[in-house]
Amino acid sequence: MTNETSPILREEAPPARPTDGTVYVSGAFRPAADAAVSVFDHGLLYGDGVFEGIRAYNGRIFKLERHVERLFDSAKAIRLEIPHTPGEVCDIVVEACRRNEIHDGYIRLVVTRGPGDLGIDPRTCRRAEVIVIVRPQLAIYRAPTDGIRVITSAFRRNAIDATSPSIKSLNYLNNVLARIEANDRGADEALMLDAQGYVAEATVDNFFIVTDHALLAPPTATNLKGITREALLSVAVGLNIRAEERPFTLFDVWTAREAFICGTAAEVVPVISVDGRTIGSGGVGPVTSRIVAAYHELVRSQGRPIQPAPPAREMVAGYRV
Ligand SMILES: Cc1ncc(COP(=O)(O)O)c(C=O)c1O
Repeated sequence: MTNETSPILREEAPPARPTDGTVYVSGAFRPAADAAVSVFDHGLLYGDGVFEGIRAYNGRIFKLERHVERLFDSAKAIRLEIPHTPGEVCDIVVEACRRNEIHDGYIRLVVTRGPGDLGIDPRTCRRAEVIVIVRPQLAIYRAPTDGIRVITSAFRRNAIDATSPSIKSLNYLNNVLARIEANDRGADEALMLDAQGYVAEATVDNFFIVTDHALLAPPTATNLKGITREALLSVAVGLNIRAEERPFTLFDVWTAREAFICGTAAEVVPVISVDGRTIGSGGVGPVTSRIVAAYHELVRSQGRPIQPAPPAREMVAGYRV
């Protein structure tokens, strides 16, 4: 399984112990300390599975239905049958948040191929394993607002005719290798190119640049169809910022006015240098600042409520009770 937590997130306070709380696994909610999967699970043996990283803000789960839709798309692409409807998966996620008393948090939704025999043939796996882990995000992570330094990795993003980068699978080795390269080179994050040499995305985040003409995002054929990316393209419309999805090169990045990465965990993080070239003024640019502010407002203002709505108050003899 992968740790897709953004590399630019830093520890702020001693994290809640992973053994605290309740985890959904093997069809039931269990104390986290007892939650386990089989050593024969093909998610563990072969990275055979899919997952989502989701955030809760202000008592609501942001874009829950969209994440679950993407989970089902990833599962369909790898011919993995999820033993629930999308609505049931949403309900399990909400219940996991309730049981863990989450107001603001991070949710990891994982579906593995389930336990099978040794050998990759998925036909030996009788039932997919659905796992929901919920953690109080704010106690664990703090995204820097002053920007990160990025290098371009020698590892290319998966080719579109290999394991499609649109599948959010449990196999992140390609990205892990790029991340190790960033660590080795003293950078905060790595940018990955596609097989043709166009900019694809960062290791666990999508990537945008701001030019004199527009906000630019690479088309999603070569990267994950990020839900934050989608949300930011809508945010840009609301802010009257011209946005385009089109391929661009490292030259465009090095000479951009601004750049940022974005993802559910990291939110929107300015990039202040790429491959030793300062981006724009080297600080947080005006377009990025507006997008960060609008995104923060958006995530706190919508989403599926974790707690059930209070019963409608009735009118009795002209008084609301
Ligand atoms: C490779 C990759 N790209 C982009 C993203 C950002 O996607 P989202 O905004 O849906 O979290 C992620 C998130 O996990 C990712 O793993």
